[in-house]
Amino acid sequence: TKGDTLVFYVNGVKVTESKPDPEMTLLTYIRTKLHLTGAKLGCGEGGCGACTVMVSRYLPAIDVVRHYSVNACLAPLCSMQGLAVTTVEGIGNMKNIHPVQERIAKFHGSQCGFCTPGIVMSMYTLLRNNPTPTDTEMEAYFDGNLCRCTGYRPILDGFRTFTKEFKCALGEQCCQKRSTATNHSSSNTVLGPKITSLKPYDPTQEPIFPPDLKVN
Ligand code: FES
Ligand code: FES
Repeated sequence: TKGDTLVFYVNGVKVTESKPDPEMTLLTYIRTKLHLTGAKLGCGEGGCGACTVMVSRYLPAIDVVRHYSVNACLAPLCSMQGLAVTTVEGIGNMKNIHPVQERIAKFHGSQCGFCTPGIVMSMYTLLRNNPTPTDTEMEAYFDGNLCRCTGYRPILDGFRTFTKEFKCALGEQCCQKRSTATNHSSSNTVLGPKITSLKPYDPTQEPIFPPDLKVN
């Protein structure tokens, strides 16, 4: 943070921009300057979630890193000072697919694909803050993501496999071994791929927050 130089990270790489345009959005910057075109420009006004990226901030007072799903079309580039941005390119690709990407694909939660990077980044952010969300938390997290193709059902079916209830039903992580545990697995095994063929989500394998940014 020297003078008018903006410093932040994108997908683990330090970005410095001297005299950044105060009117530029984060979305324009990552798409046109960094050529990361995963995040899409849909509405440009915070309504569709196609531009969603994850922004991580270190909170020194409590020594914690918090992750936020952010509409990059609304976020001013200059507000990224000292923060770490993760775009869909930063979490996985065809050779090394992230479990969130794999599940939306295998459950047929992507058709035209325009909303997909934003939806993937919303789910990814939720998991970074809470690796085992409840079904309700997961559904609520998609308030800000629109999809005009799929009708949402296959997207939520895919992501339900990350939830506490689903893991309970599989006996993987049964919290209380209650006979009333909702069994979500039956419909998913019929509609989706074999659960055992899915890449497990391992939060310990996620990239660390840039140590540089903890010194501020
Ligand atoms: Fe629609 Fe950003 S492009 S919310
Ligand atoms: Fe087309 Fe969601 S897959 S908008």
